[in-house]
This record gives sequence, structure tokens and C-alpha cells, in this order.
Amino acid sequence: MCAPRLYDVEYVINPWMQGNVHASSRERAMEQWQRLHDALARIATVLLIEPEPGSPDMVFTANAGLARDGVVALSSFAHPERQGEEAHFRRWFEQAGYAVTVVARETPFEGEGDSLFSADGGTLWVGYGTRTRVESHDVLRGLWAADVVSVRLTDPRFYHLDTCFAPLPNGDLLYYPAAFDAESLGRIEAAYPVNRRIVVSEDDAERFACNVVALGRTLVLNRVSAGLAAELRGRGFVVIEVELDEFMKAGGAAKCLTMLLTPELHVKAEARAFAETDLTEVAA
Ligand code: ARG
Repeated sequence: MCAPRLYDVEYVINPWMQGNVHASSRERAMEQWQRLHDALARIATVLLIEPEPGSPDMVFTANAGLARDGVVALSSFAHPERQGEEAHFRRWFEQAGYAVTVVARETPFEGEGDSLFSADGGTLWVGYGTRTRVESHDVLRGLWAADVVSVRLTDPRFYHLDTCFAPLPNGDLLYYPAAFDAESLGRIEAAYPVNRRIVVSEDDAERFACNVVALGRTLVLNRVSAGLAAELRGRGFVVIEVELDEFMKAGGAAKCLTMLLTPELHVKAEARAFAETDLTEVAA
């Protein structure tokens, strides 16, 4: 995650930002982010990247890239406004010991914002049509042993896959069907039988209901309708709602504000650091 110390809506690259330039409160954003951070820190280890001047959208770390098994496909942003973030994220991943793959500038790819693994890891769902270009999907094919399935986004409000599609850890799918073209919807519905699909209403989709951080049985997301929260609880999930309206002004919510990392790698790094500590010094 990246604290919103330098967060602001400074330009318009999605419909949510329209009319919201400089309209967010950094103080409120900080409070909301802290609540999200604390909720996640209870169930996961949260690592941080320092915010950098000139990159107000850096808080949306889901767009840093897509990481799994120590490999990261770094994002190549569609808009020049966000391209400055690439070097910052790259440095972070290199320092953390990831094998870094860079995606060409000509074929934008916006990381976990547009690419999500199925619960069993066998399928990598990748969006295109708004930000990520379908040509970038080929790079992903070589990186992990997963079938890459391309799905086309058609509604500018749901410009990243993680705003309208969320494979949940139990094998269910939370999604907003109207955000996809018919062929893509066919692919999605062929992979998820009807009892596995949780269809989100337009209202909940606009509350970023699909933009969920899903860890085990816990779902952390923006405030959604009572009906949807009840349905998710009925399926055995613990639902934690955190108000994130300051970030919706930039077009993002819970999932956009986080990126899933390769836990093994960081556990190893911690162990290495521990092994290298001078124990006599610690004892003193
Ligand atoms: N203002 C950012 C953008 O338009 C928001 C990114 C939201 N991130 C996400 N993963 N959906 O790029």
C-alpha cells in the first residue's frame, strides 16, 4: 500500500475524476486509508511504498503491476499522467528481490487493476479495451502457468477489470455483467456456473462493490448495499466495509488501494535480514 500523503485529484483520466479536480480532502483520505490499512493489517502483512511527488495516483498500488511467485509484470501506463509511477514501483520490486518483467510502452498494461487470478490460480483473467491493450496479454502468457483469458471492458465507468470483476477465494465470482461485451461475458459465464456467480447491481457496482480485497474468508470493501452485504455473509464471508469516498473521486476504492504480493518472498527476506543481524548486538 502507499499512504495518501501526496494524494490529490490533479487530472482527469476516468469519468470519476471529472468534476473532482482538487475536490478531495487529504485529511479525510488519510483517515479512510488508515482504516483500510488497519483492517488489512489484522489479517495480512502490509508492506508500504513511499509516495513520490508528482504521482498523486500512486496510492492505487494495484496498478503497480501483477506479482506472483516472485515474478512481477510491471505496469506500462496508458496515460502519461501515471507513467512517472513506473520507475518508483520498479525500484521497489527490484529491492524486494522480484524478477521484473517490463511491458512495452506501445502496449499498455495496468497491472492487477486489469488482471486477476482465479482462486485456484489456473486462470488469469485480463481486461482490455479501456486502459490495458490486448497485445500486452501475450507477455503475461509466458510468465505463469495459467490460462490467460482476455475480457473486453466496454463501460468507461468500469475502466479497470478490478472495478467490475472479483474472483473470490472460495471459487465464487462477484461481477457486474454490463461492464463486458457479450463474447467476454460468455467466457466468464462458461467458467463460473450460475450458483458461483454473484451479480452486482449497477448501484453496488457504482459503489465499487467489485473492488474488494479478498483474503481467505474476509472481504474488505467500500460501503455497499445491505442486500449485497447480507448475500456475501450468507455465503460464509466476513464482510468489512470501510468508507472510501475520498478515493472514489479518483475512481478507486479498496482493491485499487492494495496490491497482492508474493508472501513467500517477503518472509524469506525477513528471515535473511534476521540471519544477518548481529545477535550479540541484539543481546546487548
Ligand atoms: N485515478 C486512477 C486512474 O484512473 C485510479 C486507479 C484505480 N485503480 C484500480 N485498480 N482500479 O488510473
